[in-house]
Amino acid sequence: MNDARGGQPITLDRWLGHYALRASGLSASEVRALFAVASRPEVVSLAGGMPYVRALPEDLVRSALESVMTNEGPSALQYGSGQGVPRLREQILDVMALEGISASMDNVVVTTGSQQALDLVTKLFIDPGDVILAEAPSYVGAIGVFRSYEAHVVHVLTDHDGLVPEALREAIAQLRQEKKRIKFLYTIPNFHNPAGVTLSAERRPEILAICQENDILILEDNPYGLLSFDQPVPPALRSLDEDGVIYLGSFSKTLAPGFRVGWALAPHAIREKLVLAAEAAILCPSSFSQMVISEYLAQADWRGQIDEFRGVYRERRDAMLGALDEHLPDLAWNIPQGGFYIWVDLPEQLDSKAMLPRAVTELVAYTPGTAFFADGGGRHNLRLSFSYPTPENIRVGIRRLATVIQGEQDLLDTFAGTGILSLPSVSENVTAPPPDMS
Ligand SMILES: Cc1ncc(COP(=O)(O)O)c(C=O)c1O
Repeated sequence: MNDARGGQPITLDRWLGHYALRASGLSASEVRALFAVASRPEVVSLAGGMPYVRALPEDLVRSALESVMTNEGPSALQYGSGQGVPRLREQILDVMALEGISASMDNVVVTTGSQQALDLVTKLFIDPGDVILAEAPSYVGAIGVFRSYEAHVVHVLTDHDGLVPEALREAIAQLRQEKKRIKFLYTIPNFHNPAGVTLSAERRPEILAICQENDILILEDNPYGLLSFDQPVPPALRSLDEDGVIYLGSFSKTLAPGFRVGWALAPHAIREKLVLAAEAAILCPSSFSQMVISEYLAQADWRGQIDEFRGVYRERRDAMLGALDEHLPDLAWNIPQGGFYIWVDLPEQLDSKAMLPRAVTELVAYTPGTAFFADGGGRHNLRLSFSYPTPENIRVGIRRLATVIQGEQDLLDTFAGTGILSLPSVSENVTAPPPDMS
């Protein structure tokens, strides 16, 4: 048999029986094929969480790059420290200071995006079956990592003010009763992906106190924290607790994801293990990327540039909120104060995953809510991202989405009571997302 595209023979995977058990957690999503179609230019994609890198002045990046090559070429092209370039680690302290964090550069570990930091922390702490607590919903890329280490992800109720402390207490008590080992709480307190919500200032000390009382480490993932639209930047959980929190940061949303540079700020004891794990995984993060970012931070008005990004994303959020008000007034959604995402509640009878093929036919794409749950939840939700499309395209996309939802409702009304279009069971497997779904 030949592949229709490349003429390559298609063979069954000869090594299927050899994979480690945990590799079964790495399965391709059936929505992956749809997203391949959704990347066509005529489709308005509200699915991927891509930053609008065109808002970054190219000349500033080019100038940083040229300085690095002129002045430090041989080091930039060489292997470097497993912990990261010292000058950049020092500059990262300035970035985190904007969120009230004071720390030592000794405890900063530079990683290949914060995604790698997520992987390393999970590798260090999780044995198969260990529990990770996470918001409901949670970041799809983290769920994928947790699954690959065979963790048991338990979602905790999350509302418009973020993680609900009472629900966290109850979940811990219940798990303790079941003699489960809870290893850490994974949380995105600011401008959550995908929920768009921010943990309120009142809840922050409470969440920290609950974790302290129960000896639970916090993994604070904060790639969007500086992208606040109107309010001051929220202080990080790490700014309130030095020993109980591993903080993850990234240059992906405030500069560019193409550099693949993020970092972890860890309590001193953990930091050592993290560096060893990073060295075992990749020897060292890219010297070249780190040095270009370091030079950019030294030369450019990076704080001003982040303000530019805030303005761009605020305008896009407003365009999306306006279009939702106009075309889908009967649905419910949150109003994000920063970041990239709006989380939409659909009527109970609509299934966002089942509806996606119709959406792609109508030339609009979104991410179904099920991608953000480890337990099959989220069928009546979808995530919309406003970071990448222009305001004009956002309006076109939401208008199309309204047509999709209306069409789906009409179809269900037509077959109501016949049982022909009943929803599949909740236990249906939720599979890994396509690559642009961060
Ligand atoms: C919540 C969250 N954490 C981590 C990441 C990974 O970011 P990075 O590009 O730094 O690996 C993303 C990317 O979208 C994200 O949304």
